[in-house]
Amino acid sequence: VKEEMKILTQDKGVNSFKMFMAYKDLYMVRDAELYAAFSQCKEIGAVAQVHAENGDLIAEGAKKMLALGITGPEGHELSRPEAVEAEATLRAVTVASAVNCPLYVVHVMSKSAAKVIADARRDGKVVYGEPIAASLGTDGTHYWHKDWSHAAHHVMGPPLRPDPSTPNFLMNLLAKLFTSQSSPVPDDISILSQSHSSVRHSMPGWPGLVLEDLPSFTEITMHSGKMDENRFVAVTSTNAAKIFNLYPRKGRIAVGSDADIVIWDPKATRTISAKTHHQAVNFNIFEGMICHGVPLVTISRGKVVYEAGVFNVTAGDGKFVPRKPFAEYIYKRIKQRDQTCTPTPVERRPYRGEVITLKSRGTEDDSTAGTRKQAHS
Ligand SMILES: *[C@@H]1O[C@H](CO)[C@@H](O)[C@H](O)[C@H]1NC(C)=O
Repeated sequence: VKEEMKILTQDKGVNSFKMFMAYKDLYMVRDAELYAAFSQCKEIGAVAQVHAENGDLIAEGAKKMLALGITGPEGHELSRPEAVEAEATLRAVTVASAVNCPLYVVHVMSKSAAKVIADARRDGKVVYGEPIAASLGTDGTHYWHKDWSHAAHHVMGPPLRPDPSTPNFLMNLLAKLFTSQSSPVPDDISILSQSHSSVRHSMPGWPGLVLEDLPSFTEITMHSGKMDENRFVAVTSTNAAKIFNLYPRKGRIAVGSDADIVIWDPKATRTISAKTHHQAVNFNIFEGMICHGVPLVTISRGKVVYEAGVFNVTAGDGKFVPRKPFAEYIYKRIKQRDQTCTPTPVERRPYRGEVITLKSRGTEDDSTAGTRKQAHS
């Protein structure tokens, strides 16, 4: 695997790898494997990404819920409550810090996990957190909805949290409310993203295509008054482009950059609905949300692909962008930390005092036990 990671990074333009701390007996990696994977990411200049939830605890939690007769969607959250996410997040941060590897925590869903990331960042660690529109726009109380289908449509991993103050809390971190001009603090949470569900029936996930999400993103972020348009562009585009080494080709409007541009009408409104969205699913978790700000024109690499409700795209228009390792935006600090944070031995004269030799007593059989006891006392 290590060799393949190297080939992917050096020859195939892949500079990030995602590890799962959840999904026991399927994808889950344990601490020693995380350590090895993060070490290799560091070696080849990649970014380590994690799905941070404690897979062992989820497996036990699921058994517990079944024993209690809880088989509905509420059991999804109850079997993997936010402490399970926060614990794994702290563990990932600790392992990444031990090998000085940049860490990117995907879909931060809870206040406690977000706090772990914010604390690590204030501590100077090279860690990035990414909430998704779902966790900023709605909460996990829907799992207790009487209608099974409604509740089930909110199932995602990690789950939305029933604490109704979660969306606002995550939003405040994302909006960098704690930063002031005089005392610059790094962004607490850097990137807003989406995770699209591409599987049918009851697999976890939510319908969140970027095109559909942007109006809900603007509604949740800018119209709430917590972000200006510069910050909005940073968290939805520029920060990601920098972390994944696509900048300045992506994430910037400039001569020489790809012309990927969305033109907005900030005054126009649109109501999100499963009846009108462009996704092959019959449910939308933001159903009925009125969004202020609607895209008028979308340009992809210089070509108008959407205008006035009409798409002009063909399969294959999308292009893979090969990415180079050692993104300067993150690896500059990693290298600096290597130089300044590596421990060195204390220089001292060798010990010249008395050395006691421990003697074993009694029979051959209890000799080790006796030594241990003696050494202990
Ligand atoms: C759609 O795109 C094609 C290929 O880029 C272009 O030739 C055509 O003029 C476009 N059609 C419209 C209606 O803009």
